[in-house]
Amino acid sequence: MSENKFYITTAIDYMNAPPHIGHAFEKIQTDARARYQTLLGNDVYFLTGTDDHGIKIVRTAHDAGKEVREFATENANIFRELLDLLTISNNDFIRTSDREHHWPGALKLWNKLVESNDIYKSAYKGFYCVGCEAYITEKELVEEKCCIHDTKPEVIEEENYFFKLSKYAVELIEKIQSNELLIVPESRKNEVLRMLDEGLEDISFSRPKEKLNGWGIPVPGDESQLIYVWCDALSNYITGLGYGSDNTELFDTYWPADVHVIGKDIVRFHAIYWPAMLLSAGLPLPKTILVHGMIISGGKKMSKSLGNVIDPYKLINTYGAEALRYYLLREVSSLEDGDMTEEKFKETYNANLANGLGNLVSRILKMSSSYGVEIDHNELESTEHVMKDAQEYRNAFDSYKINDAADKVWEMIGALDQRIAEKEPYKLIKTDEDAAKNEVEYLLHELWRISILLSPFLPTTSIKIKSLIKENKTPDKPLFLRME
Ligand code: MSP
Repeated sequence: MSENKFYITTAIDYMNAPPHIGHAFEKIQTDARARYQTLLGNDVYFLTGTDDHGIKIVRTAHDAGKEVREFATENANIFRELLDLLTISNNDFIRTSDREHHWPGALKLWNKLVESNDIYKSAYKGFYCVGCEAYITEKELVEEKCCIHDTKPEVIEEENYFFKLSKYAVELIEKIQSNELLIVPESRKNEVLRMLDEGLEDISFSRPKEKLNGWGIPVPGDESQLIYVWCDALSNYITGLGYGSDNTELFDTYWPADVHVIGKDIVRFHAIYWPAMLLSAGLPLPKTILVHGMIISGGKKMSKSLGNVIDPYKLINTYGAEALRYYLLREVSSLEDGDMTEEKFKETYNANLANGLGNLVSRILKMSSSYGVEIDHNELESTEHVMKDAQEYRNAFDSYKINDAADKVWEMIGALDQRIAEKEPYKLIKTDEDAAKNEVEYLLHELWRISILLSPFLPTTSIKIKSLIKENKTPDKPLFLRME
């Protein structure tokens, strides 16, 4: 295992529908963290992918009159394209329907649970929420409905394989309380500890093949059952590193995960089921589970009937992908639910990208190119140096508050704006050319620092600013066009 390795993952998304803004949010947040770690000089591996199995997709594909594999692949391609559009820097993209890259590891993990005597056959009678792809207990229901999907769960009765989850309750409590398995934020950690205090029941870990039209991974030794979609999906975090394949180099280098980034609706699976599976298999636990909030719109959960669903593509087409990254990283809290409206989007875009950053870049480069200010490229500060100096920025990232880290960059932008207003190099050039040039040189160096610190948020803009500085050129067109 390399000393400075950093393995980060997102949840893998269900393929029953194209991506929405919540999916974009999680990928962008994770990308910013991955890029920050790279800036620190760490050896980063970033995995994302798709959760192709489960009953939900079988039904939606059927309703769309499509074959499920084809349907999943169509959606997976749309997710992949979105990652490209958003310049997400993932190293790999794992799909749970991939028989070559995912299945061997998922099966190996299942066999490990069997070897630990943690899998047994029993009857399950109870509720199943298709939206959550989860078995739920009566006490979790609110007015007989799933509190996340606001729908009545199905009642199922079937013979399944069970996982001895209850066996791991005490060990999990210890590891979570001691932060050996760190759950961020604290409120989510307490939520998990409350779930554990209430006691754990063993969980059904497979489903009859016919109920899923055969769509899933067959249980080793019993073709009549398919592995439960969450057991299958969670294993992506190790199969994506080659666990169960002939080449375990990535697994040996990067596991355990440094951070699993997930939304608050799937905490139970990641903070209880997944670590219990790993304990059973004798594998190290992830270090941190980072739980973000939900994107809501105008104070309400997004829903088609309320007409407040925000379409990421519409925003990207109008404002550009960097603008969407900006909003989701700076204007929305990293850990709490974040509100989003198109009005606020436009307002902050104009204020902080078109005016704030965009204007600053144009002004400085206009002066430096017209005054003929040359800067020695070798004297531009190294990333290492810039990061060393940026203590508050690092503190914000390290305490999981990306939006505070972004604030630090915009404080630097504001400070440069103010300095230009005070020093007025555009007037000084008429009376004292050397002093004006020195001042612009200073501004260029500061802008260089900004471009480095900006890169986790706006990677494309960061590269543009750097090359403008190196070429000493004003941008051909504004970096961010003002929107009326
Ligand atoms: N397939 C499971 C995850 C398996 S991980 C081993 C799943 N998929 S999902 O498509 O429903 O959600 C994927 C991620 O997007 C989750 O982390 C979820 O919390 C997040 N989000 C879904 N809607 C969201 C918002 N409105 N806002 C922010 N994140 C949201 O769960």
